[in-house]
Amino acid sequence: MIKKYEIFKNITLFRFGDPFKTGAVVVDVDQINFKEVKDIYLFDKNVGLDKVVFNKTLSAGDSIYGLGENLGSLNKRGKIYRCYSSDDFLHTPEKEALYGSHPFFIIDGDETVGVFIDSPSEIKIDAGFKDTNLLSIEVSSTDIDLYIFRSKNKIDIIGSFLSLVGTPYIPPKWAFGYQQCRWSYPNRETVESIGNQFRSLDIPCDVIYLDIDYMKDYKVFTVDENKFPDFEDFIAKMLEKGFKIAPIIDPGVKIEDGYEVYEEGKSKGYFCKKENGSDFVGMVWPGATCYPDFANSKVREWWGELYTEMVKSGICAFWNDMNEPAIFFTPDGLKNFYSLVDKIKEKKDPGFDFFSIKDAVNGLSNKREDYQSFFHNLDDGKVICHDKIHNLYGFFMALATSDGLKKLLGNKRYLLLSRSSYIGAHRFTSIWMGDNQSWWEHIIVNIRMLQSLNMCGFFYTGADIGGFGCNSSAELVIRWSQLGIFSPLFRNHSALGTRNQEPWAFDSATTDIIRDIIKFRYALIPYIYSEYLKSIINSRCLILPVSFVFDDPILKNIEDQFMFGESIMAAPIYTPNSGGRYVTLPDVKWLCWKVKNFDDRDVSVYNPGSYFINCELDETLTFVKENSIVVLMRPQNYVGEKKITELLAVAFVTDRASYMYYDDDGETYDFQKGKFINLNIFIEKSDGDYEVYFNDEESAEYKNDIRTIKFEIYDENGRVFTKIISR
Ligand code: GLC
Repeated sequence: MIKKYEIFKNITLFRFGDPFKTGAVVVDVDQINFKEVKDIYLFDKNVGLDKVVFNKTLSAGDSIYGLGENLGSLNKRGKIYRCYSSDDFLHTPEKEALYGSHPFFIIDGDETVGVFIDSPSEIKIDAGFKDTNLLSIEVSSTDIDLYIFRSKNKIDIIGSFLSLVGTPYIPPKWAFGYQQCRWSYPNRETVESIGNQFRSLDIPCDVIYLDIDYMKDYKVFTVDENKFPDFEDFIAKMLEKGFKIAPIIDPGVKIEDGYEVYEEGKSKGYFCKKENGSDFVGMVWPGATCYPDFANSKVREWWGELYTEMVKSGICAFWNDMNEPAIFFTPDGLKNFYSLVDKIKEKKDPGFDFFSIKDAVNGLSNKREDYQSFFHNLDDGKVICHDKIHNLYGFFMALATSDGLKKLLGNKRYLLLSRSSYIGAHRFTSIWMGDNQSWWEHIIVNIRMLQSLNMCGFFYTGADIGGFGCNSSAELVIRWSQLGIFSPLFRNHSALGTRNQEPWAFDSATTDIIRDIIKFRYALIPYIYSEYLKSIINSRCLILPVSFVFDDPILKNIEDQFMFGESIMAAPIYTPNSGGRYVTLPDVKWLCWKVKNFDDRDVSVYNPGSYFINCELDETLTFVKENSIVVLMRPQNYVGEKKITELLAVAFVTDRASYMYYDDDGETYDFQKGKFINLNIFIEKSDGDYEVYFNDEESAEYKNDIRTIKFEIYDENGRVFTKIISR
C-alpha cells in the first residue's frame, strides 16, 4: 500500500510499507491524514519483493544537483551513485559511494522538483549513465518514505527540504578559525611545539587535533600517559594559549580483558551481535574490536557519558572517525583469504592468480557480507540486520556523541566532526570529506562537494586542506588554503608517512604566503560568522552555485565558482602553474579583489562577462558583488583573543547597499534567548559621495563591543571613499 501525505504546501510524502524511522525528518508525519494511492508523482515505479525501482525520463536540458558527499560533476547527470556509506580512501572519479549517504537531489529542467528518499538501506541512483535519458533509482527495501518538493526555485526547494529535516547545527565561533591536524602528532611535546610555532610565526590558529596515537593501544577513551603525561594540565596549558584540542574517537572498542569500556559494553550487551548471539568482531586500528550498537538509545546514552572525563579536562571539540563503520577485515574473511592462498600455492603455474590475490586482499575490507552478518537490537525489542540500516551507523554514533556533549557541556557549544553521516546529521554534527589526496584534481572535487553538501544541509563542512594522502607541494597547499578561506571548516590534515604540510613545512616564502592567507580568513570572520548564522535563520545555504543565485542559462555549467554568503563570490585556482583562471561574472558588476594580505587592496571593477583574470600565487581571487558589503576585522592569533571594537566594511556600491551584521557571544546557546545583535549597515551614493549610517537591533542583555565602523567604499570606477562612524 502507498500512502500519500501532504506535509506542507510544497512537500508530498509517498510512504511505501512501514519504513524504518531514520530520524532524518523533524516533522511528525504520522499525525497527518493520508490518502491511499496507486501511482506516485514524477516517477514510474516498480515494486519488487525486496526492492523498489523508480524511473523518470529525463529531457535533454534536465540537470541533477545534490547528493551531498559524492564524486562526479556538480550537475550529477551521467554517472551512477550509490548510497551505501563506504570507507574508501581513494576517491578516484569512477567511485560511486563515499562516507556519507545523502539521497536528496533536485531535478532542474522544464519542471524543478526536489526528491528525498528516506531509506537507510542501499540506494543506487543511475542519473543517466546506462541510459542517457533515464533517471533510475533502485532502493533495496520496500519500506520507503519518498518526499517530493515542488517549487520553481532551487533555493526554495532547499528551504523546504530544511523545513523538513531541520536546520544545521551551530558550532562555536572559534570553529571558523584555522585548524591543524596530522596523523599523528605523536606526543605532548610535539603538539606544544606545533602550538608555539603558530604563535611565534604569527600565524593564527584555533584548533589542533589529536589523531589515534594519543590513545593507549588505540583504545577509545584512553590516553597514553607516556606520550601525553598529565593530560589535564596539557589541555589547560593549550587552552591558555588559545588552542582547543580535538581528540579523535573511533567506534571500534578493543577486545581486551580489564579494559573498562570493553568490559562494560560486553557485560551490558551493548555491542552488535552475530546471528548466534555472540559479539560481532572486526579488525580496525586496535586489532580485534567490537562495534557499539548505536541504533539503540541506551547504548547511545552510555557512549555519550564516556566523554565525561575528556570534557572535564576542558575539551569541547571531537572528531568521530571510521563510523561507516570501517572494517579492515573479519576473522572469517581472513580465513577464506588464507584458504584461497593455500589453493593457489598448490598450483603449478599461478600467474593469473596474481589478480585473484589482489582482488581478495582488497575485498577483505568493508565487505557487504560482513555488514550482512551482524545485527542491531532496537529500542522496541526488534532485531534488525545491520545491512538494512547501514547508512545510519555514523549518524547514530554522532548523535550519541552530540547528545552526550550537550549534557556535559550544558550551555557551551561544541565542535564535532563525523566522517560518516546521513541526511539529518547536519542538525547535530559537521562532517569533513574524508581521506582525499594531495592531488590538484581533489581541489575541484572539494569545490563541488562544498556546494552539493550545502544543498543537503551540511553548511559547516570542508576537506583536508593540502590533501590527506600523498605528498603535497608548496603550491598545492597554497592554492588549497586559498580555497580554505571560503570553506567553513578550514582544517589542514595529512596522513602518516606523507610530507608534512603545516604552514611552515616548506620554505619561508611559502610560510609568508600561507600566513597572509590564514590572516585574511581571520579578517573575514565577522562576515563568515554573520553569514553562517543568517544562512541558518533564513534556511538558505551559505555556499551556493552561481546558477542558483543568478538566472542566466550560461551559468548552468559553472561549478568552479560559488557564492559564499550574500556578498562574495569565490573563484579558487585549482590547477598548477597557472597565472590565473577564467571567471564568469554574472548579471551585475563585480569588484575583483586580489587579496595578497588583509591590508592590501588590489581591486578593479568588472562588468558582467567572461574573463581570464591573472592571479599570482600569493593572491586570492575574491569577488565582491555590486551594491554589497563585506565586514572584516583586524586578524587575531585566535578567535576571541581580543575584543572586537572596530569593524571594517569593504563595499562596492554603485547605488546603495545594506548589510545586516549578526553577532552573538559565539560560545553559548544564549542567542536562542534573544542575546544577539543585528547591526544594519547602510551605504547610499549621493552627489558623487556616499552617506553611511547604521541602526542597531541589540537586545538589552547582549552588549556588542563594536564602537567604530570604518568604511572603504569602491565606486564603479574603482575609486575609493573612506568614512568612519561610531556607535
Ligand atoms: C582515517 C581518517 C583520517 C585519520 C586516519 C587515522 O583514515 O579518515 O582522517 O587521520 O583514519 O586515524
